[in-house]
Amino acid sequence: MLSLEKLLVRACAATLQEMYAQHKATFLELFLRRRPVSDLAFGSCNLQPLIRAKIIELSGKKIRPILRVFPVQGRFIVSDYFTPRHPDNVLPVALDESIYMENSLDVHKGDVTLDVFTGSGIYPIFAAAKARHAVGVDINPKAINYSKFNAILNGVEDKTEFLLGDMFEPVNGRKFDLITANPPYVLIPPHKTRTDALHAESTGDGLDIPKLFIAGVDTHLTSGGRVQMITGSVGNETIPEISFITERYRGKHKKVIIDFLHQRKISLGTFLRRKFATDTKFYHAPISKSFLQKWELNLRQKGYTNYYFYLITIQPARRFEIVSKQHKFQIRKDYYLTTDMSDFSLSYITRLMRAYERYFKWWESHRGEKRWHTKPTPRSPKVKLEEKLRACRLELQKKRPIK
Ligand SMILES: C[S@@+](CC[C@H](N)C(=O)[O-])C[C@H]1O[C@@H](n2cnc3c(N)ncnc32)[C@H](O)[C@@H]1O
Repeated sequence: MLSLEKLLVRACAATLQEMYAQHKATFLELFLRRRPVSDLAFGSCNLQPLIRAKIIELSGKKIRPILRVFPVQGRFIVSDYFTPRHPDNVLPVALDESIYMENSLDVHKGDVTLDVFTGSGIYPIFAAAKARHAVGVDINPKAINYSKFNAILNGVEDKTEFLLGDMFEPVNGRKFDLITANPPYVLIPPHKTRTDALHAESTGDGLDIPKLFIAGVDTHLTSGGRVQMITGSVGNETIPEISFITERYRGKHKKVIIDFLHQRKISLGTFLRRKFATDTKFYHAPISKSFLQKWELNLRQKGYTNYYFYLITIQPARRFEIVSKQHKFQIRKDYYLTTDMSDFSLSYITRLMRAYERYFKWWESHRGEKRWHTKPTPRSPKVKLEEKLRACRLELQKKRPIK
């Protein structure tokens, strides 16, 4: 467990700031590439607080990272490294997921916010800049410890609260203006059991935990409250599987916005093969081709042909509406998540970090402008077929001779 002694954590913050400002490349090499660096590499920076906090260790003439420190918009978020098979792993910040969500948080001044599945606590820590109070919940005691550490590290411990428990259970009876979530959503191959990776996996084709979250969220929303959930899921050719959301809110005064995180369409087969056959780091031992084909067939029989990563927002509106949009400044090209960066080269990491810095600047400079390509409401194949039939019927009526 990380020490929550305020003086020590604040000393860590000062050291990290100095290290990053003066030795950016070495900082990324140590904390993101997870490579040992020389004990002289950070010059005169006082590394003692980080050693005492067990974030780094000295071995011989080398400094080795114990925990991962992610620099983001002038703050630092400490987490574990990506070791998915470890049950209480605290999920590292992912550039294209956690950071996208952090930058998109719809916090209004004075809000009271809740982040379910908080992990490292990144969303409440950023929400605290505007919010009156920001709460984070996680079922993993280690995540709560890391969140509290990160809140002190970033000077927002007085405005944040981190609670241990299952989803909404620790905030029973409380209401929030904004509720955010990055739930575990990774689908589990049939006939395999959970690997106990709390941060990642969900049963029911990956949908069970997102469904439970949506089923419980309304009770905790103030009138006018908003929901933001970033997730990945199977879907048909036009839309991810969000019927559990659209059916719930259809006819109500709600707008559902799907913000796609990737440019290209991801076919289900490609996704399954990349994730489960070749990428042995992820969740399971590699799965055989024939097994994957059967699994794909099984999912296709349920109508799923594609995989999507998206941020979904549910907000009050005059009438029920579904809108889908794509950010004009798109960084992410395909399915890959940057949770683990230790296999990337330093120059690639530096390029990615620069791209995100440009992205943040672009976001700031386009404040108040239209920052998305908005697409027409996605329609399911069934709705499309109904529309076609209606059009055919009209055509036929026109062709019938007038008596
Ligand atoms: C995908 S991680 C999200 C981490 C962080 N919010 C982020 O976006 O970087 C999901 C988190 O949900 C937590 N979790 C899993 N099941 C939960 C449950 N039933 N109730 C509360 N938290 C849960 C895990 O411990 C993990 O920290």
